[in-house]
Formats: sequence, C-alpha cells, structure tokens
Amino acid sequence: MTRHDPERWRGRFPILADTTYLVTHSLGAMPDTVYEKLKGYADRWATSGVRAWGEGWWSAPIDVGNALAPLLNAPEDTVVMHQNVSLIESIVASALDFSGRRNKVVYTDQNFPTVMYVWEGMRRFGARIECVASDDGIGAPTERVLEAIDEETLIVPISHVCFKSSYLQDAAAICARAREVGALVLLDAYQSLGTVPIDVRALGVDMVCGGSVKWLCGGPGAGYLYVRPDLMDELEPRITGWAAHAEPFAFEKGAQRYARGPWRMLHGSPAVPALLAATAGYEVIREVGTDTIREYSVRLTERLRENMLARGFHVPSPPDPARRGGTLTVGLNEDENGPAFVSALSERGILVDHRPDAGIRVSPHFYTREDELDRFAELMSELRETRSWSDHTAGIGAY
Ligand SMILES: Cc1ncc(COP(=O)(O)O)c(C=O)c1O
Repeated sequence: MTRHDPERWRGRFPILADTTYLVTHSLGAMPDTVYEKLKGYADRWATSGVRAWGEGWWSAPIDVGNALAPLLNAPEDTVVMHQNVSLIESIVASALDFSGRRNKVVYTDQNFPTVMYVWEGMRRFGARIECVASDDGIGAPTERVLEAIDEETLIVPISHVCFKSSYLQDAAAICARAREVGALVLLDAYQSLGTVPIDVRALGVDMVCGGSVKWLCGGPGAGYLYVRPDLMDELEPRITGWAAHAEPFAFEKGAQRYARGPWRMLHGSPAVPALLAATAGYEVIREVGTDTIREYSVRLTERLRENMLARGFHVPSPPDPARRGGTLTVGLNEDENGPAFVSALSERGILVDHRPDAGIRVSPHFYTREDELDRFAELMSELRETRSWSDHTAGIGAY
C-alpha cells in the first residue's frame, strides 16, 4: 500500500482552504462534487418535470443504496436509503413481534440516545430492554454484552463505534453470539462506516444502519439500512408506505401488499436531493479506500494521543487503536470550560466540538495533515496555560 497523502484530496474540499477541519464525527467536510450533484438534480427537475420520477427520482433510495453497498461489501439490492437512523430503527422495530418469550432487546448505555428512544418505546408492545452499563463511560465490556444476549433476545441494536468515547465494539463477537442464540443484530455504523472498514458478509451481520453526515462526507438526509438478503423478505414493517408496496402505482386500497426485496423496507416519496448529494461523499470515500483511510486514521490518532499525553492532557478514548474509531477525545480539568475551548479554537480556524462527560472530540480524516493536529495540540496547551479560553464563555453551539 502506498503511503496516503492528504494533499491529493484536500483541493476537493472547499472548507479546507482556510479551516482546520477536525469535526468529521459531527459533520464531514463537503466534497466539491456536491455542487454538480445538486445542479444535476435541479436541471432534471427544470427540464424533465414530472418525468424526473421515472428518470431516477423514484428509484433513488435503491440506486443510492447500491452506490453505498460496496463500502459495506454488501450485495446489490440489499441497502435502502431513508432520512435518518431514528426512522430506520423505528421501521425495523415495527417489523418485530414482542409478544412471545423472545422479546428482549439488548444494547449498551453508550448507544446514541435516539436509538434508545426508539426501542424504549417498544416496551408498550411487550419489549424488555436490557441496557448493559459501562463502568467507565467509555464502553461496556464485550463479555457483559455477550452474556446479556440469550435465547430470549430478539434483537441487539448496538453502536459499532460509540459516539461519545469513540469506543469500537467487537461487532464480530456480538454477531457470532447473536447467531448462536438466534437473535438479530442491527449495527449502528454511523460513527464507523467511512473511517472503520465494515464487511457485512465477513461479519454475518443481519442489519446495518447509519447516516452519511459524518465520515461518509455525504451531508444530511441520507440514512442507510442494509438487510441480509435472506432476511429481507421475512420483514413486514408496520411503519410502511406506498413506496414499499408491490405495485405502488396501482394505488390499491386496503392493507399493505409488500414488494419483494429492498423496496419493502421503504416508506413514502424519497428526499431525492439529499440522496443524490450524498453520492458525492460515497464516491470520494470509495476512491480513497476505507482500508487506506483506517490505516491513516490510526496513525493520526496515535500521534495526537501521544502528543496530548506528553502535554499533560487526559485522553479518555480507548488507548488501543484496535478498540477505537476515528475520533480521539481530549479531557479537560474540572475548572475548564469545554464549549469555551471549542469557541476559542474556532476563532483560530480549528473546528472541533465538546460533549459533556467526554471532553473535546477531535476527528482527523483522510484530508487532515499531521501538522494541523500538531497545531491543535499546541493551541490546547496555550489555551490551558494562558487560560485565554475564559474569554469565550458563549461556546459555538452543540451540533
Ligand atoms: C451512532 C449514532 N447514531 C445515530 C445518530 C443520529 O441519528 P439520526 O440519523 O436519527 O439523526 C448519530 C449522530 O450523531 C450517531 O452518532
């Protein structure tokens, strides 16, 4: 493998011209090809009018899913697009029956909260929730997760990389245990796909979901759901709509008659511009290659970790890069104010963010240069030593 050179890619991301962009775990930088994608969308609407539906708009959730599928090593027609993870988890939950003995839902307290909100809501349909706690707020021990997955477990909707700490769960062990006892796994890969390689066939995972906002550099409104091909036609989501019908344009009355294959997982009319824009991100990530991105990411987060430790900062993210995603968290002292640090860094052209109990989240991607991380580290020391962060009480918002 040739050594990755970020300079080869930086020119394609306009914001990098004047900003050190270390906030990809929140919103990935925009590739310049998004302009073409959205112009293509507008041109089609302008010139084709209603014919646009037959020229790729109606099939966009499947076509864009197919554009994403190679990043998961997923076969064609196994990935569908929706607006976001909250909706996807709801659709999957609505396809399950919690009335029998097998009604347990297992995840950890490091899941993204929206996922918990969806599954907690299933209690009223008979779901039992087992939320495995982490002792350290970083990640729940794998053995404890595996123990919780038993013959009464229906599904394990779990994060691959935890959003706050960057803890990378052992998805292979979780999938193997779930298979052994006949439970399903819905892996939330929002914080992994695009920086940590995923191979759905090697994992043998049942379902994977995520969004395109972060490491995929695809912008908002383009959530994805992979479903194992032999599971797909068994699912009958109650959260459904006419796009999931076998013959939507027959406008049949009465109950849903599900399409076969990926269409059955759809809902109503798709959010076409968001889906088309997202393909700009998938194309560049595929071009760089997720193995290359991961190798480079580990190199950068290791370098930053050592630098921050040498400067006396606490680094809560897992020390073992094999158990860590693309983000590194940097802890602050009790008398220091995270949002104020974020704001002070932003004023100096460096974008990061802060999460309570996690610290400052820093995310290099394939477009980050080593010297940008070195500068971030230097500034952190300077802000701490001079306490000049205290001039910034407002913070720049929590997105
Ligand atoms: C792991 C994870 N899941 C889900 C989400 C967001 O879900 P939604 O697509 O519903 O906004 C995030 C956003 O930060 C996330 O980090």
